[in-house]
Amino acid sequence: MHPHFRTLLAAVLLVLSACTSSDVKDLNDQAEPVEDISIAHVNDQIDNQSYSNCEEVYSTHLSMELTVNFDEKKLIGFVKHDIENITGTTTMIFDVNQLSIDKVVLDDNEPTQFVIGNYDDVKGSPMEVTVKPETKSVTIYYSTQPNSKALQWLAPQQTAGKKFPYLFTQGEAVLTRTWIPCQDTPQNRITYDATLQVPSNLLALMAADNNPTEKNTEGKYAYTMDIPIPTYLIALAVGDLEFQATGERTGVYASPVLLEAATYEFAEVEEMIKVTESLYGDYQWGRYDILVLPTSFPYGGMENPKLTFATPTIITGDRSLVSLIAHELAHSWSGNLVTNATWDDFWLNEGFTVYIENRIMEAIHGKEHADMLFSIEYEELEIENEEILAGEFPGDSKLKLELEGRDPDDGMTTIAYIKGALFLKTLEDLVGRAKFDPFVKSYFADHQFQTLTTEAFILYLNDKLLTPNELTFNTDEWIYGEGIPVNSVKITSDRFDRVEEKDKLIPGMESTDMLGLSQSIWSTQEWMHFVRQIPKETTLNEFEMLEDDFSFSQSGNAEIQAEWFIRSIKQERIDPIKKEMEEFLIRVGRRKFLEPIYEELMKSEEGFAFATEVYAKARPNYHSISYQTIDEILGWEVEKG
Ligand code: BES
Ligand code: ZN
Repeated sequence: MHPHFRTLLAAVLLVLSACTSSDVKDLNDQAEPVEDISIAHVNDQIDNQSYSNCEEVYSTHLSMELTVNFDEKKLIGFVKHDIENITGTTTMIFDVNQLSIDKVVLDDNEPTQFVIGNYDDVKGSPMEVTVKPETKSVTIYYSTQPNSKALQWLAPQQTAGKKFPYLFTQGEAVLTRTWIPCQDTPQNRITYDATLQVPSNLLALMAADNNPTEKNTEGKYAYTMDIPIPTYLIALAVGDLEFQATGERTGVYASPVLLEAATYEFAEVEEMIKVTESLYGDYQWGRYDILVLPTSFPYGGMENPKLTFATPTIITGDRSLVSLIAHELAHSWSGNLVTNATWDDFWLNEGFTVYIENRIMEAIHGKEHADMLFSIEYEELEIENEEILAGEFPGDSKLKLELEGRDPDDGMTTIAYIKGALFLKTLEDLVGRAKFDPFVKSYFADHQFQTLTTEAFILYLNDKLLTPNELTFNTDEWIYGEGIPVNSVKITSDRFDRVEEKDKLIPGMESTDMLGLSQSIWSTQEWMHFVRQIPKETTLNEFEMLEDDFSFSQSGNAEIQAEWFIRSIKQERIDPIKKEMEEFLIRVGRRKFLEPIYEELMKSEEGFAFATEVYAKARPNYHSISYQTIDEILGWEVEKG
């Protein structure tokens, strides 16, 4: 960021106190003793994914007024930043990416200068606005561009109801700056209010209070978020949406054609909240609603505060994929209450969240079920860890990342999620829940509404858990070492062992009756495991038998479908499933499914030809987050410009 910032310890300490949220600064009185922090670690706190100079001057509150224009695929309006200038600087730096800035004014409409610097494909550009030491607010008039990376504008035929268009945003990690000019770093927390003008036949929602439950005739809506949040959690969605309450503080928003199914699927959510509260303290965000996104939503879920965004692919009719909701809910503590200071500390958000997600599922459905859910993910960690260690960036297998100069998206691997959760499970195993649970609870209480580095977490861990219990632990190896330490707890699933017994019967079977599966009632995860473990020796004919009897290609469950496609392609069984795969790849835009399917297809000539043909049709349906990843896999940018 700034050279002086890196060299002077005094300046660094100033930053430590200045960069936290204004509203909560008084809570931040437990700054670490200076001698415990090496300069290198303090430097790690610099958010190298943001240009902003929030250590000098920072936003405290955003007021937005935006018109949502579907014809032009643009948001048009302004954002007013209330600012706190601590050093008296005359330059305030914002992050902007693909925005058209019309003008910038200070306080009561006083025009001021601004300069937009060099463009970086990931970070966008710095926008330097001239301010005065006494300036109280900066108002930026702007519009977004149709290809803004955070936004996906969907035509009616791309939605569940097929009658109305849809717009949604995805801010994490560094995309909020593609729809709001802001200091787009998790280190700064802001409150916000917004007024939106949308077509009157659509409902507009934000990750905020006052979400409407019905359309109004003017198409005008106002929102407030009075809890300070990092900018990556600001979110907006506009579509033909209806609301159904599922409890006093919970509800579901979805397209009318999906509302009933979604309400059934997410009925456990109040119970999930109660479980988490009993472990880690009150839910602090008021309402917890779930918005069902179109199938093109690039993620499974996104923990936008008060309003989780969720893929419709978890609506299976049997509630078998609701651990994803437990995950997004868990972020209300890990991530939204206590936030990673930089994207290099991403595991603090996701590792804790996966750990809590699993505790929620265990509390509601028992340990056997929770272990099974974790095992599915552990298998993915083992594979990805090996791939990372053998690849270009073996350091990506460390919990603490070093993503300077790279896309923070590169940190979204099972390392942060599953290795992170395993680290916590291993600690839990060492000290026992009687000590570990209160430790995690006080971790949230002591750091709520703050941002935290990995280093601050280590100090807290030593101080509150390890030293008082006279324990030593290989924390550094877990956090700064590559791969999975040998002392990791092993999570196994008896149910999966039984599934594997069935897999062994496949090669040489005369009919699927020999598996004795028709009567057995398996969960989604057992079927997923069964498909993953189909032995290499299985013949194409045996694949056909499995397909004929279990119709995996046409499963209404996207997880099972995706596993079947991937396992089939591995067996070079592409031709028989082309039709179903094409339909799936065009309809579903969730990157977690797309990435391994396209990657597997790329391994053969037949697969490559098929992938290229289908991608040409599917790409217009994908959000930028997904098509960027798939472009890379297919070498698309190179070929198509
Ligand atoms: N916060 C993440 C999604 C995310 C991470 C978006 C990084 C952008 C950058 C969300 O909570 C998440 O982890 N979603 C997972 C679901 C989960 C059950 C592991 C997903 O979308 O697959
Ligand atoms: Zn998450």
